[in-house]
Amino acid sequence: MIRRALILLAVLAVAGYALLMVTYEVIGVDFVSFMEDQPFVDYQDGPRLLPAEEAVPVSRPVYLDVPSGLVNPVPADDVSLQRGETLFSFHCAVCHGPTGQGDGPVTRFWREEARRPANLTEARFREYPDATLYSVITQGLGGMPPLRENMTERQYWDVVNFVHTLQP
Ligand code: HEC
Repeated sequence: MIRRALILLAVLAVAGYALLMVTYEVIGVDFVSFMEDQPFVDYQDGPRLLPAEEAVPVSRPVYLDVPSGLVNPVPADDVSLQRGETLFSFHCAVCHGPTGQGDGPVTRFWREEARRPANLTEARFREYPDATLYSVITQGLGGMPPLRENMTERQYWDVVNFVHTLQP
């Protein structure tokens, strides 16, 4: 009886060791992995697809996909500008600075070669279309992350209106 138990134990131990060797690849077995067989898009292959609606992109688009016919539904009145200012201080000022000069507190930690937050007081932003500004905020651009998570539709436009007041 004891001899049988010992033999069984020995057999189990050998089987266990063999299993561990496969697990830790001491014995390499090339298992079939179906991940290798799926369709995929190679680096810089087309077509370029937009991320899914709820996706949180880690790398940002280089070109903007500005919806055609998008118009600013919110008039730039005092209420909108005041809201825009507050929202800008929450969502944008960390990078673009309190007055939009691209000198927010986190830029101290920017890598040398990384693209700096834009100076929103530059003259080119005076002519910057509302729809493009909206798209920069909601989709991100280059080094700027999309900020569509914590703002409502109305709030994007309030910020858009406010950004147009930053140029002297
Ligand atoms: C995490 C930092 C960060 C935050 C927060 C941020 N931005 Fe930016 N923004 C950037 C960077 C970096 C760029 C430069 C992008 C590039 O050129 O690659 C940029 C560029 C821009 C541009 C210029 C786009 C162009 O055509 O050159 C606009 C406009 C802009 N941001 C508006 C905003 C607004 C409005 C907010 C707040 C809702 C905001 N940003 C929040 C980092 C940020």
